[in-house]
Amino acid sequence: MLRGNKVGLRARHEDDIPILRAELYDDVVNSSRSEAGPWRPITPGSKDPRLVADDKEQGHVKFSVVELEGDTLVGTAALWGIDNHNRSAHIGMGLLPSSRGKGYGTEVVAVLCHYGFVVRGLQRIQIETLSDNAAMLRSAQRSGFVREGVLRSSAWVMGEFLDEVVLGLLAQDWKPASMG
Ligand SMILES: CC(C)(COP(=O)(O)OP(=O)(O)OC[C@H]1O[C@@H](n2cnc3c(N)ncnc32)[C@H](O)[C@@H]1OP(=O)(O)O)[C@@H](O)C(=O)NCCC(=O)NCCS
Repeated sequence: MLRGNKVGLRARHEDDIPILRAELYDDVVNSSRSEAGPWRPITPGSKDPRLVADDKEQGHVKFSVVELEGDTLVGTAALWGIDNHNRSAHIGMGLLPSSRGKGYGTEVVAVLCHYGFVVRGLQRIQIETLSDNAAMLRSAQRSGFVREGVLRSSAWVMGEFLDEVVLGLLAQDWKPASMG
């Protein structure tokens, strides 16, 4: 378990899957904004890679985000595209609707940076998000991520092309938040 102040990142449990499916992946708009591909339903009980963690997959580490008090599930987070040659990776996350806007996203970014830079020895972490996702942009910037560029009209989302922003953080620029 990786701990922040209020939230922690632990392994994906079987019981988490129906909650994440119902609250995040069955939401067509949320899914279309968060995933690179088109929304399609996930069959209950299927081993869909968006929900089920594969411990043997070296380049992708999936976490469930929990409130430390009570071990209540509040979302999902991942370090993906881990490249051990260039020592880089990407961050992804999604919080359940009732858990947004409470500072948890900011903490999840900080904890994923700790995992990436300290545990995995990475040099660079990257985030791609839609340019109108103010909460994601701000959560990233709070950990020191800087905007590196805009990918114009790069994402087809619910009938229109939207811009994505690329943010990056280098190990030497990272200032760890005090946690735990
Ligand atoms: C994006 C997300 C992870 C952010 O986490 P969060 O817990 O909601 O964000 P926080 O509460 O930590 O807020 C971070 C900052 O954004 C601001 N913010 C939060 N929600 C906001 C909103 N809807 N509009 C504008 N600003 C917002 C907060 O005020 C805070 O700013 P501050 O640091 O200046 O105080 C979360 O909202 C989420 O899961 N959204 C849906 C899925 C998604 O977009 N995933 C990312 C795909 S790349």
